[in-house]
Amino acid sequence: MNLFPVYPLFDIEPVRGQGCYVYDKLGHAYLDFYGGHAVISIGHSHPHFVKRLQAQLQALAFYSNSVQNPLQEQLAKKLGQLSGLEDYQLFLCNSGAEANENALKLASFHNGRQKVISFKNSFHGRTSAAVNITDKESIKAPINKTFPVEFHAWNDLDSVAKSLKKGDVCAVIIEGIQGIGGIHIPDAAFLESLAQLCKQQDTLLILDEIQSGYGRSGRFFAFQNAKIQPDLVTTAKGMGNGFPIGGVLIHPRFQGSHGLLGTTFGGSHLACAAGLAVLEVLEAEKLIENARKWGAILLDELRHLRGLTAIRGQGLMIGLEFEFPVGDMRKQLLFEHQIFTGSASDANVMRLLPPLCVGEKEVDLLIGGLTRETIQKVQNSKA
Ligand SMILES: Cc1ncc(COP(=O)(O)O)c(C=O)c1O
Repeated sequence: MNLFPVYPLFDIEPVRGQGCYVYDKLGHAYLDFYGGHAVISIGHSHPHFVKRLQAQLQALAFYSNSVQNPLQEQLAKKLGQLSGLEDYQLFLCNSGAEANENALKLASFHNGRQKVISFKNSFHGRTSAAVNITDKESIKAPINKTFPVEFHAWNDLDSVAKSLKKGDVCAVIIEGIQGIGGIHIPDAAFLESLAQLCKQQDTLLILDEIQSGYGRSGRFFAFQNAKIQPDLVTTAKGMGNGFPIGGVLIHPRFQGSHGLLGTTFGGSHLACAAGLAVLEVLEAEKLIENARKWGAILLDELRHLRGLTAIRGQGLMIGLEFEFPVGDMRKQLLFEHQIFTGSASDANVMRLLPPLCVGEKEVDLLIGGLTRETIQKVQNSKA
């Protein structure tokens, strides 16, 4: 059997990971400023993560959601404590798309409506409803387009307000920081007015923190720069540091009932052990503070790069916009400097999404590699 060829692949085969590095089968180290697509939060194969997963695997990997599983409650409690959303409720699932799918369902169960407001260049996943609210026509099949969606300009309150006034909008969904779209940060004032407008119309506000959450922005959730209490917050990626786990955080005003949502694998013993290990390390190693510190340093240092037209970011979620497409430079960084970086839907934007445990050595290596490559690129373009 052949694999269904949906991914363009780099000719690199990582076989081992440690902290901010992955190692290929020849033992070459690669600095991971991509975090395996913003997934690695506490670092590759963190010893506490490995130990907790090994112990859980030996005890019990899985039993269904029809029995008591105190690990789910422990995870919910710890997540509440660290995020400050202690009174929210947690529904556990397996991926980001699934978290958004369930959030949309909850919104529609609540107000009986169908129309969703999303934003230009947004990405919310590839399952049926999640892809319908994603601003990329080429990845939607006709079967996905089952409810009306409007894509509004980023930070454009007037346009959203006008639409919300009609009273038929089920939910507004927005990324805490827009990731794949090229690292765009919503204004705090925009989020605060948006939350108010949604409340007036009984439209649910969903914060997609799948990429921007779990400390990446230097706060537990990026939206926490604004004074809002979203109805629903979705999370995945950094939540499991590579173990598939996602969640919907649900405002206390919503009541659950048996059978309303469900999943076979979501909240398994093994997934909860992974989720708990991540939170324990985030707290013990003060990784959110670390993300804030090194993110600020990177933003400050990288703004001097040649050929840069804009730099945006918070914490360790940084977008570098150049006057040229970044594809070749990303390849140079990977094959000449052994540094992974991320792309964005805008070909001129490079994303930096490293593990939250980066330190001076990693930041220096990245700045060195980027400085050399950008100087070369600009010189070549003038030659
Ligand atoms: C903001 C955002 N939402 C949703 C998703 C979908 O998550 P998953 O790939 O785990 O389904 C992603 C994935 O990149 C994302 O960045």
